[in-house]
This record gives sequence, C-alpha cells and structure tokens, in this order.
Amino acid sequence: MIIPVRGEGINYDIAVKRGAIESVGEEFSLSRKVLVVTDDGVPQEYAKQVLKASGNGFLVTIKSGEENKNFDQYRVVMEELCRNAFTRTDCVVAVGGGVVGDLAGFCAATYMRGIDFYNVPTTLLSQLDSSVGGKTAIDFMGYKNCVGAFYQPKKVLIDPDVLDTLCDRQFYSGLVEAVKMAATHDENLFDFISDSDDVRRDAEEIITRAVKIKCDVVERDPTEKGERKVLNFGHTIGHAIESLSMPALLHGECVGLGMLAVSGGEVREKIARALTKYGLPVLYDLDERKIIDFIRHDKKASGDEISLVTVPSIGSYEIRKVKIDSLFDTRSR
Ligand SMILES: NC(=O)c1ccc[n+]([C@@H]2O[C@H](COP(=O)([O-])OP(=O)(O)OC[C@H]3O[C@@H](n4cnc5c(N)ncnc54)[C@H](O)[C@@H]3O)[C@@H](O)[C@H]2O)c1
Repeated sequence: MIIPVRGEGINYDIAVKRGAIESVGEEFSLSRKVLVVTDDGVPQEYAKQVLKASGNGFLVTIKSGEENKNFDQYRVVMEELCRNAFTRTDCVVAVGGGVVGDLAGFCAATYMRGIDFYNVPTTLLSQLDSSVGGKTAIDFMGYKNCVGAFYQPKKVLIDPDVLDTLCDRQFYSGLVEAVKMAATHDENLFDFISDSDDVRRDAEEIITRAVKIKCDVVERDPTEKGERKVLNFGHTIGHAIESLSMPALLHGECVGLGMLAVSGGEVREKIARALTKYGLPVLYDLDERKIIDFIRHDKKASGDEISLVTVPSIGSYEIRKVKIDSLFDTRSR
C-alpha cells in the first residue's frame, strides 16, 4: 500500500509492503552516493540490502540505544559524509529504529543545509510513528530531542517482515504508540489492538491504520502549531519518566505510563487493560516533584504552562493549557 503524505512543504510517499526491503532499489533513487546509517543492534542484513541496491554505497554503524542519540554519533555520521565527499545531490538512508531515524534524519537535514533522506524503519515504533512526520533530533544535556529540525524524507519504506527479528519487549513498546493514536482518534482501532489474538500477525493492519492517523494530523499541522500536539498524548510525563529512569524503561513503556498519569475513569481502565495484556508496565513510582521540575525544561512548555492532551473518551481528545505545578491535578475523569 502507498500512503501519500501531502501538505504545506510536504510531498512524499510511505510504502507499506511485506518483503519490500528486497526491492528497495525500485522504491528509492539510489544511483548516486548513498550513506546507509544503521546501528549495531539492527540485523546487518537489512542495511546490506540497501547497500546492494546502491550505485555507490557507504555504511556507517552507530552504537545502538537512546544514550547514543547524541553529538558523538552525529559527529561519526557527519565525518563519514565529509570524508567521502558527499554533495547536495547525494543521499542518506536510515535503516533502523527511531534512534537511527531521528539521528540520520538530523544529519541529512544539516549536512550542507540538507541532502535527500530516505527511511527504512525497522522497529514497530519507528514504522508506525517516528518515521512519519519529519521530526529529526538528537538528545542533549539530558533533554530528549533538544537539538533537531523538521525535515521531511523523500520516501519511507515500511516492511513489516523485518519485525520478525525484533524482540517482544521492543515490539510491545512500539505498540504503545498505536494505542496512543487509537485512544485519541479511533475507538475501532483501539478495540482491534486490545482484542487481537495475534498482534504480530495483525501488525501490517495496525501500522497502516496508525500511519494514516498520524499523516492526517501532520498534513494539517506539520510544525506542531496546534493539532499535532495531540500526538504528545502521554509524552509530557512519559518523556520525563524516560529521562529520569534511563536506561531502565523503553520509550513506549514510558509513554504508556504517561497516558495513565493523565487519564482517569473508564479511559484509564481501558488503556491499563490494553497495556497489561501486552506485558507493559502500568505502575511506576512517580516522583511528582522531580517530574514537574523536569517538565519546566520541556521544549513544549511556555512560561509556567504546558499544553496537555487528555482523552475524555476513547477515540477523542482535548488539548488545553495547564499550569505545570498543577499537572497532576488534571486527570480526565
Ligand atoms: N521523530 C519522531 O517523530 C519520533 C516519534 C516517536 C519516537 N521517536 C524516537 O524514537 C526513538 C525510539 O525508537 P525505537 O523504539 O525504534 O528504539 P531504537 O531505535 O533504540 O531501537 C530499539 C532496539 O531495537 C534494535 N532493532 C531495530 N530494528 C530491529 C530489528 N528489526 N530486529 C532486531 N532488532 C532491531 C535496535 O538496534 C535497538 O537496540 C526515541 O529516541 C524517540 O525519541 C521519534
């Protein structure tokens, strides 16, 4: 399936197809210098497929893990581009999860003020969320995504078959982002995920439906002036937990806890039931003071207020400004 992404300054396609990585040369324009960026936790065969299809391919393998989405690894990629005399007509291809995609995308955005960027996301989270929407970044001084840019890819290739090598913990952590999008936009998808008896088998459908939701939102608000903030449901507190707990909890696990922290009543129960079904954490000893201190530095904060997304009933959402100090008094009932 091809999902077109169109909007102001946005014009690219997302291809979702089982086995698509084997014909990556037909999807991307690779008859030029191509820097393939992957990490040492991604099975090498995926990057090799892209290299094989490239006219003049180079490979850089960064260290895996959120702690490596940093300036050191940014420098490793930039040095490779410079050393091999990449020009503005060449391209970067990310083959990996959200860490590789965010970092390689930021390198592509900033090398010579921007060269073509393609993404082959290989985790569930990156397939249904981070590869869509053009956010690229690295972490800095303990703050997630502190240094970054909006930069749209030329094309995204989603091959659900590569998830076969992804461990369950990473798979279910990624599923949280689909739960998030369903919770705010699509009750039917929420039930589909909650009731699935084989969620790996259902991955292609979940990815396609979640990507469409994200595309709709991003097309209307590419740079997060308003509506796109809905994608941050669970992320304000989730990011704080992620930074404070690092490296104990994964991104999606933290977002799940963040959704629960701002939900109440039946919504909270339904989200907790879905998370529990997939072995995701629903209990975390929140140090509310530390979280509030952290959120003061969140780039989404303005003064002493923050935009908070809540879900009044599954399939709907509200965005409102709340005082950071009273964040934990605002759970939707
Ligand atoms: N840009 C955005 O809009 C956006 C949205 C959500 C999240 N993110 C970012 O995404 C990052 C998290 O991404 P993630 O969850 O993909 O984590 P990740 O990139 O760290 O990947 C998780 C692990 O899985 C390994 N891996 C990747 N693909 C594999 C495969 N097919 N088989 C086996 N192992 C594989 C990786 O080596 C890594 O060890 C965070 O940095 C987060 O901030 C960005």
